[in-house]
Amino acid sequence: MTQTSDKTTHFGFQTVPESEKAGKVHGVFTNVASKYDVMNDVMSMGIHRIWKDAMMDWLAPRAGQKLLDVAGGTGDISFRFLDRAGSGHATVLDMTEQMLIEGRQRAEAGEKSASLDWVVGDAMALPFPDNTFDVYTISFGIRNVTRVPDALSEAFRVLKPGGRLMVLEFSQIPNPMMQWAYDRYSFNVIPPMGKLIANDSDSYQYLVESIRKFPDQDTFLQMIKDAGFENAKYRNLSMGIAALHSGWKI
Ligand SMILES: C[S@@+](CC[C@H](N)C(=O)[O-])C[C@H]1O[C@@H](n2cnc3c(N)ncnc32)[C@H](O)[C@@H]1O
Repeated sequence: MTQTSDKTTHFGFQTVPESEKAGKVHGVFTNVASKYDVMNDVMSMGIHRIWKDAMMDWLAPRAGQKLLDVAGGTGDISFRFLDRAGSGHATVLDMTEQMLIEGRQRAEAGEKSASLDWVVGDAMALPFPDNTFDVYTISFGIRNVTRVPDALSEAFRVLKPGGRLMVLEFSQIPNPMMQWAYDRYSFNVIPPMGKLIANDSDSYQYLVESIRKFPDQDTFLQMIKDAGFENAKYRNLSMGIAALHSGWKI
């Protein structure tokens, strides 16, 4: 007899069975993959680049390090990591093959392919042995994962002792007026923009709703500590529109 879990989770503002969320998220990113990079620039007015650079500033990649970039999509974080490290290796893992195909094409155009692997896989069940990587990153990915604690446990498992976790994610703005203004922008502008550029407003409606459902900075920090990470800290970006969380496997 097949057993089905009756646990539910959120997919944006909808409540769905846990077993259905990954398929829905996969559908969103398969639909938007070819327009993902241009939409990122348009929606954020280029600011996502500044946040990703801030992630690298705090991470300070070093020559020879092995990175696992989970939910790595079209490779933005891995490309930056390799540029900063000078030498090293990056594995981009994502559950949506179409996103990886876009990234691989970018890597080939930029002659970065030799230092990169592209792996289809799930953040909650990583296909790597324990203690493999020096650095684990996940950028704008973790809020899409069905069970965030499982992904954090997997991050801890595959990092070497002394390895570093860094998460870039949308977060909560502590100032209520700013949060109100930001919500007006997100909900009124981004889905119509998605319709115009990617011919898909539903996927972008999900993306803005999923931001609202993600825990605030301190709650997420505690989840990182609960997964076993030490010296865990966060930094707000753009007044908390996004945040960087860092932790170490000691
Ligand atoms: C918003 S994109 C982020 C891409 C890239 N990291 C960036 O910062 O531009 C989110 C990515 O998370 C991936 N994703 C969502 N859930 C995942 C999971 N459980 N395991 C692996 N990848 C996942 C999606 O396929 C998508 O490519």
